[in-house]
Amino acid sequence: MYFFTEKTESYVREKLVQESLFQIGYNKTMSTPVITLGPKVMPAMAKKSGGLAKNKLNRIYEKDCIAFMDELSEKVLDVVVTSPPYNIHKNYSKYKDNKESGEYVEWMGMVAEKSKRVLKDNGSFFLNIVGAPSEPWVPFDVAKEFSKHFTLQNTIHWVKAIALPKDSTETKSNTNGLNGDISLGHFKPINTPKYLNQCHEYIFHFTKNGTVALDKLAIGVPYQHESNMTRWKTKSNKRDRGNIWFIRYENKQGAFAPIVHPATFPEKLPYLCVKLHGAGPETVVYDPFMGIGTTALACLRLGVSFLGTEIDPRYIKEAEKAILKRKTDLETSKSNGH
Ligand SMILES: C[S@@+](CC[C@H](N)C(=O)[O-])C[C@H]1O[C@@H](n2cnc3c(N)ncnc32)[C@H](O)[C@@H]1O
Repeated sequence: MYFFTEKTESYVREKLVQESLFQIGYNKTMSTPVITLGPKVMPAMAKKSGGLAKNKLNRIYEKDCIAFMDELSEKVLDVVVTSPPYNIHKNYSKYKDNKESGEYVEWMGMVAEKSKRVLKDNGSFFLNIVGAPSEPWVPFDVAKEFSKHFTLQNTIHWVKAIALPKDSTETKSNTNGLNGDISLGHFKPINTPKYLNQCHEYIFHFTKNGTVALDKLAIGVPYQHESNMTRWKTKSNKRDRGNIWFIRYENKQGAFAPIVHPATFPEKLPYLCVKLHGAGPETVVYDPFMGIGTTALACLRLGVSFLGTEIDPRYIKEAEKAILKRKTDLETSKSNGH
């Protein structure tokens, strides 16, 4: 322990003020001195968003996600949203999607553990995953591994394709706006009598303690009948969307587009997840498996910051092209007053 004389104390204080590390003011009655951070420190603080330097944000790093998370300070991210490799022999250009199943689940567990450290206490982790028809337990094994670190707060079903035959939608008095058999969305047909086509995937929503309040109406859907507003005593004409989300692939990565990446998700998926968590100007979103930048595009649309990691430089190049184009499009529509 050091003991300072009054003289040394006032010398140190003066020195710190001179060096602009601290500044001394007075409270409203001018009776008590108030010490605040000085001009040398304040700009450095201003350049940070939730503990992350702003110049490190809005970038995709060519790096292994685990190594990247190890370098981050703790509790700096609001949302992690991602679709990892599913271990189903997808033909990525660099990554080999065929780990031994125990090793794969363990690796996913490590992603969960590392993410927990860098996620804020009220953060959300949205994990999009599905198994192959012959390996149906994969998503559940991974979710179970995640549950060692997180609480499963919501299970969302991403419906990629759905058939609504007329006889299942209309009642005697109401066609519900559907005038025939309807089939929506895309799926990859499965050519075996054993398995049904896979028309959905999971989005597991994990949080640290299962109590994160969500902005449900931000992604709400309109009530079918306005009378429900009175019945449920709500002022909003929107209701909670529920946990079944129909999201179709946009054409760019749909059935007819050239395939630049074999396993992307549609932009609306991370968009809805981030909005549901709550999106503000200080929100920081991380996608550990960024692919060709879909999560980054969703973040640009939402006006939130993003961080991404991807081990394949080819995918990063595609992502950077898409990000640049999106920024230009957003600037153009802003200057056109939209
Ligand atoms: C399912 S894809 C994600 C696609 C992305 N959601 C999109 O829409 O473009 C998984 C990605 O993880 C990448 N990857 C695999 N191992 C990784 C690791 N250890 N760190 C970072 N990225 C990795 C793969 O190269 C692949 O692009």
